[in-house]
Amino acid sequence: MHIDILTVLPDLLTSPFEHSIMKRAQDKGLLTVKVHQLRQWAVNEYGQIDDYQYGGGAGMVMMCEPLANAIEQLSKERAYDEIIYLTPDGERLNQKTANSLSLKNNLLMICGHYKGIDERIRQQYVTKEISIGDYVLSGGELAAAVLVDSIGRLLPGVLGDETSALTDSFQDNLLAPPVYTRPVDFRGIKVPDVLMSGDHKKIDTWRYEQSVQRTKDRRPDLLEE
Ligand code: ADE
Repeated sequence: MHIDILTVLPDLLTSPFEHSIMKRAQDKGLLTVKVHQLRQWAVNEYGQIDDYQYGGGAGMVMMCEPLANAIEQLSKERAYDEIIYLTPDGERLNQKTANSLSLKNNLLMICGHYKGIDERIRQQYVTKEISIGDYVLSGGELAAAVLVDSIGRLLPGVLGDETSALTDSFQDNLLAPPVYTRPVDFRGIKVPDVLMSGDHKKIDTWRYEQSVQRTKDRRPDLLEE
């Protein structure tokens, strides 16, 4: 998979993909992430990419031309399966969306700033609008990092243990069960006996029941879906 990201703050997006699973995905050649400074497509020598909003009001709006020119130039190099705009008024990111995006080949992500991007870019070019939650960030960069991470770890071959993404929280609309490691007894609190029984059928059943209980307690909305 190849992901291009358009941003005015490329520095915010250098480090997130240089560690752990995202690094492994890139080292294995399963994922490439390229961050592009939107100001390359600025309308003037001052690097302008935003302007005052029509109708008045505080806050700048990201202009059409730099975004349109950037999208058109990048689209010549790659046929994008989705052009994604990260925005608080987009559809809320969940595991289902991450799963489905992980099946694509080429994605372009646009990070908004200030009051956001001109509506006409959303209408003309953007094919999917994603929010990472009901709160407002200073810009779309951290949201793009979250989205790339949630997708990248699902690419076949990225996770060492091929089954581990399948047992994540949300994969069956269930939260993951509790996990334990050594020691068996930590300050008087013991690891549940079943986990040391060696009986894998029993362990699977216990984990499933714990998942269901945890989901009922913490996220009953998931069970209604
Ligand atoms: N940009 C600002 N806030 C955001 C959010 N919650 N999700 C996605 N992009 C954003």
